[in-house]
Amino acid sequence: MRKKIIAGNWKMNKTHREGMEMLAHFFKLLDFELSLNEDTGKKFPEVVVAPPYLIVADAAMLAQGWDVKIAAQNCSSEKEGAFTGEISAAMLKAVKADYVIVGHSERRAYFGETNQLVAKKIDRALESDLSVICCVGETLQERESGKQLQIISRQIEECLFHQNNEQMKNIVVAYEPVWAIGTGKNATPEQAQEIHKHIRLVIAGKFGKDISENISILYGGSCNPKNAKSIFSQPDVDGGLIGGASLNAKDFIEVIKAIL
Ligand code: 13P
Repeated sequence: MRKKIIAGNWKMNKTHREGMEMLAHFFKLLDFELSLNEDTGKKFPEVVVAPPYLIVADAAMLAQGWDVKIAAQNCSSEKEGAFTGEISAAMLKAVKADYVIVGHSERRAYFGETNQLVAKKIDRALESDLSVICCVGETLQERESGKQLQIISRQIEECLFHQNNEQMKNIVVAYEPVWAIGTGKNATPEQAQEIHKHIRLVIAGKFGKDISENISILYGGSCNPKNAKSIFSQPDVDGGLIGGASLNAKDFIEVIKAIL
């Protein structure tokens, strides 16, 4: 059975104080929901929070008392050295981060990140024993010209195909159509399912059925308490990477509950 995961990507939001206050509140709400859920036999998803770098260390410390994983939103493609302003995967591991998000479309669009750079970041993350959430997704223009499957295949191939089967066990893929991110226009459940199934097929072609059936594939892009249930009900959607709706503890809890 593959893992269900709901991850919140805060992007460049919240100061240290705002972030820690929200986490303390969120952990309490989550604990309450877990206690309500105890007798239902339903399996809670893995919950991941990706705050800005400056909050990662304290968030990871706070999260230790709770069943929540902490992710960074990025890491360097280099190991260490003269790379001003960068944060390495080893530094993130040292403060007990669990995951790192790589290849987010905002990093691809605003910071020029290519599949090749994303592939290097994944190598650094795995070397440091971090799990990876690797984002892929097509732009509106690519979808309108019918190229979405081709684009996604290429992103998967160039970012992930150099890994081996063992390393693939520490990878989660997030499908985030660029046209759905922060726009309020989510992919329909059918659109998400089509791409998720395609991603699984591409992964099966390279790594075999065992890896492809067990890899978690998350949907991201204007996912909120209202639309989450129908998107998560699709057979190849194993959870979500949530932006805006993860900034508010109550909304994020509602999205988490939508997968139960
Ligand atoms: P929104 O949920 O705000 O559309 O953002 C999605 C996203 O980019 C998560 O990484």
